[in-house]
Amino acid sequence: MKTIEWPKWPQYGPEEQAAVARVIKSNQLFADREVKAFEKEYASYIGCNYALGLGNGTQGLHLALAALNIGIGDEVIVSPYSWISSSSCVLMQNAVPIFCDIERDSLGLCPNEIEKNITHRTKAIIIVHMFGYPAKINEIVALSEKYGIPLIEDASHTHGSSVEEKKIGNFGLISVFSLHQRKALSVGDGGIVCTNNKKIYDKIYKLRSFGHEELSYNYRMTEFAGALGKVGLSKLETFNSQKIENAFILQKLFDNNDHLKVRISRENEIGVYYAVLFEVTKNVVKLDLKISRLNKKGIPLIKTWKPLHKHPHFNPKFIPARGLPWKENDYTGKMKNMKYKDIKLTNTDYYCPSRILQLEVHPPVDKNLIELAAIEIKNEIN
Ligand SMILES: Cc1ncc(COP(=O)(O)O)c(C=O)c1O
Repeated sequence: MKTIEWPKWPQYGPEEQAAVARVIKSNQLFADREVKAFEKEYASYIGCNYALGLGNGTQGLHLALAALNIGIGDEVIVSPYSWISSSSCVLMQNAVPIFCDIERDSLGLCPNEIEKNITHRTKAIIIVHMFGYPAKINEIVALSEKYGIPLIEDASHTHGSSVEEKKIGNFGLISVFSLHQRKALSVGDGGIVCTNNKKIYDKIYKLRSFGHEELSYNYRMTEFAGALGKVGLSKLETFNSQKIENAFILQKLFDNNDHLKVRISRENEIGVYYAVLFEVTKNVVKLDLKISRLNKKGIPLIKTWKPLHKHPHFNPKFIPARGLPWKENDYTGKMKNMKYKDIKLTNTDYYCPSRILQLEVHPPVDKNLIELAAIEIKNEIN
């Protein structure tokens, strides 16, 4: 039985309604003034020179690789612990994803593991800042510079996180933010890429919308999304502050808990807690049943993702029409004679899928609700 009413996210209100009405009134629904204004504001918020609005984050990841001319025979280092788009985008360019292990602090890619997997075929590294917790970005930027390999930040969960006061999304050559309805900056479906590099900006600009000589796409953002993005951005900092507060309250409430530890980002970082992560520190009998009982009570605590190297996209039963890039004649790299599902990744296999749980704490979730939820979670998971 439901004992708690967890607020829905997102909660669109009068400002969003006015933004949508403004677009309708303008009679201009595809990318124009609203999108341009949002791009300008978002670039300035992240602190980078350029931003380009898109139809979704997956398109952003695809265009990032296309803009870097990545294709057959190339390898791209990716995370096994993420949403599918941050590695399926590599297949979209017919290149070979190389899954590396994550590290324990941030659950992002481990710098040492990245370095071990760099070869002359490596043409990009895609890191993911998981659930608003920054990855070990300074170490990874250093590797990207040392080997001259472009870094793409999948910042789909980190609208506003920072490391040493620099915003996540302003470290790599290209960063990608999802603006999907469930994200902290929520426009229904949408995405935005950021860069400081004019050539990359020009190239993505062309690839986004039927660009001239080169094969390109229709990956534009709508005016509705641009208008909603501006409203979302104006509320983002306030909402982020509330989530940060919620995360710290939870951390205190679970201090010394035997079974669950609340993860908080490191000292020099500000995480924005797209979801607060709990680490299951002791074996919990019948965890799935306990989670489902909590869900029935109204507490949306859930497991996160399954490891991507075991996903059917990389272990297909049938050869897709575009072929399998790791079976191409030109490709002689690590994955040529390996099956993705056989890759051993110690930390990923440890945490994923059962040792990390997520709880969304978007406003209006507040201290009272967090305290009630903590009581229920502690009663159930022990
Ligand atoms: C880490 C990550 N990257 C990329 C995406 C893809 O974003 P979109 O749904 O906007 O295509 C998501 C979506 O959930 C995500 O969580």
